[in-house]
Amino acid sequence: MQTTIASVTFEHPIFNAAGPLCVTTEELNAIGNSSSSAIVTKSCTRTSRDGNPEPRYRGVPLGSINSMGLPNRGYKAYINDTRVLKEHKKPIILSVSGLSLEDNCTIITAANASDADLLELNLSCPNVPGKPQVGYDFEQTDTVLAAVMKIAKKPLGVKLPPYFDFVHFEQVAKILNKHNVAFVTCINSIGNALYIDPVLEEPVIKPKGGFGGLGGQYIKPTALANVRKFSELLDCPVIGVGGIEKGVDVFEFILAGAHAVQLGTVFMEEGVGCFERIRKEFEDYCAKKGYTSVEDFRGKLKTL
Ligand code: DHB
Repeated sequence: MQTTIASVTFEHPIFNAAGPLCVTTEELNAIGNSSSSAIVTKSCTRTSRDGNPEPRYRGVPLGSINSMGLPNRGYKAYINDTRVLKEHKKPIILSVSGLSLEDNCTIITAANASDADLLELNLSCPNVPGKPQVGYDFEQTDTVLAAVMKIAKKPLGVKLPPYFDFVHFEQVAKILNKHNVAFVTCINSIGNALYIDPVLEEPVIKPKGGFGGLGGQYIKPTALANVRKFSELLDCPVIGVGGIEKGVDVFEFILAGAHAVQLGTVFMEEGVGCFERIRKEFEDYCAKKGYTSVEDFRGKLKTL
């Protein structure tokens, strides 16, 4: 069940999403010691950040809502961690989310000399007040990619927000193909959702008046649609993320065209054990279907 993205081989297609439980060195080592097939770091900024006021994450029956506000230790700490994390002998993906183009260029220049295997440029954080999601501004996306692709010496992919319109998929894909991005990860949380506690008559998280990124089961059909469309339109591999909780969910994402998948809400709720459970469920499902490799069914969604 190996998969390859930008010449980097993953033992199986299931690893963590940037965000949950990947901020500290201890958390990153725990991912290294787990059945996750790669280690993805929390999106980093130029300087360390405490993030938004708490409560800023809530697990809810069908998923999660968060407005963390990019709490992270600053890029130098994550670049240092890559040296140690190398010992786990699995791909390391550095997630980069600078607050300006200049910051992204600084971080990517430093990351060129790190032990990261892949860089995932996050164009879709919905939670920093006053910073709109870059992925919804196509002109800015084009400008950012033109600048960073000139600098990056490691394969650089992008993490996208969800899109909901066929014209938008085509416009974004055209830009990504023009800049030869190495991979695309989709989707980030559905931004600026609102979850209300009707008893307390308040939102469940504090920042931004309760507005935050929605994850988990709520978003799986939107994530599958984005993976399907982008895998048809792009010249590079797609990594799927959004609402995966069971092995059969992984199967659906690969059937839609994904080369690999990432776990967000389920990892936050269940901890590192989710990687082994979901890997086993996925392999059992494939065995039942008679598939021995992901190429047997990747992208082969049937039509009615
Ligand atoms: C945060 C949330 C995101 O969805 C993201 O892509 C980056 C950061 C956050 O709030 O920390």
